Amino acid sequence: MSNNSIAQSRWQSALQNNYGVPEVSLVKGSGAEVWDADGKEYLDFLGGIATNILGHAHPVLIEAISAQAKELSHVSNLYSHPRVLELAEKLVQLTGRADSKVFFANSGAEANEAAIKLSRLTGRKRIISTLGSFHGRTIGALSITGQISKRKAFLPLLSDVKFIAYNDIAAAKKVIRKKVAMIIVEPIQGENGVVVPDLGYLKELRSLTTKHGVLLAFDCVQTGMGRTGQWFGYENENIVPDIITLAKGLGGGLPLGAMIAIGDCATLFEPGSHGSTFGGSPMACASALASIKFLEDEKILERVKQIELSLKLEISKNPIVETVRGSGLLIGIVLKEPIAKKYVGDLQKLGILANATSETVIRIAPPLIVSDSQVGYFIETFRKVALTYER
Ligand SMILES: Cc1ncc(COP(=O)(O)O)c(C=O)c1O
Repeated sequence: MSNNSIAQSRWQSALQNNYGVPEVSLVKGSGAEVWDADGKEYLDFLGGIATNILGHAHPVLIEAISAQAKELSHVSNLYSHPRVLELAEKLVQLTGRADSKVFFANSGAEANEAAIKLSRLTGRKRIISTLGSFHGRTIGALSITGQISKRKAFLPLLSDVKFIAYNDIAAAKKVIRKKVAMIIVEPIQGENGVVVPDLGYLKELRSLTTKHGVLLAFDCVQTGMGRTGQWFGYENENIVPDIITLAKGLGGGLPLGAMIAIGDCATLFEPGSHGSTFGGSPMACASALASIKFLEDEKILERVKQIELSLKLEISKNPIVETVRGSGLLIGIVLKEPIAKKYVGDLQKLGILANATSETVIRIAPPLIVSDSQVGYFIETFRKVALTYER
């Protein structure tokens, strides 16, 4: 029996079935490479689903996390500590708005829960979200998630949430009214297959929400922390939202989420409004600070944009590919045939990890530190698999 099979049967007997049983058990990683329990090597082009921005076992993270572990590991939210202050100040600086304030959580769903609660403190209750969106699995985050398949077993969810078509400003105009507390939108719908709205959509949402005093929240959980070649996925629109939610890449691989409120809404939370025991822990903040510093020092965001261009150019040359969409290193490869799941299986056999968000879309989200030769290997292997379908 292989080690992967042993892991499968142990998973089956000890873990709940909410993810199904993973075929592969990963035991070791280095940069953008990982190894499974049977010693097979993979190029990790999924990065823990857009999370491991510096890949695996990065020396600066090992150093920062170990140093922090030797100094102070957890303090709860009853005390301040240097790393949480530094990270909050850094995030405020990255928003470009000195009137931003940060709340730390541990995940994307929790960051969005915090946004929902903040919006309630405006005195308004209605929330607008978009069809196809994904904001997390907790009851609040699920209530604003526009995917019926994920919601239906858990109804009724929060009331007074309305869904409108994504990338449809006319639909937004019909529902954005003075009674609406918040509209929450992903700058790119990641889980829905890396769906990119038209340039101008987010800007129009900004003017519409400003006109009616509605909070504009951008869920940058998947598109944040350099993933799109910018710190936050909305920045090409040159606008500032009222709320930004973050997780995934923020902690550099450690669990960390954040809800950043900007301007007037930044002071809505008062003592007792919200909290989290682990949110903003010294270890996670140290890891986040080290990741951000590395991305800045090595000018990784500029590189992310260059890699995006070469990936899009080369992958779109394959006749099986309908289009390649996305931004930076969050890319959706749309196939002409409904074979994405099988294609991902073929890539995996050849040592590449990616995932299919549907029958026609393959998503890649490699670590931002992926090397040119690794990008080349991905392009070559993708082509090799494409050829087997083109015969
Ligand atoms: C845009 C977006 N928001 C929220 C979440 C939920 O994050 P988490 O799984 O950390 O709760 C995700 C996860 O995929 C996401 O892509």
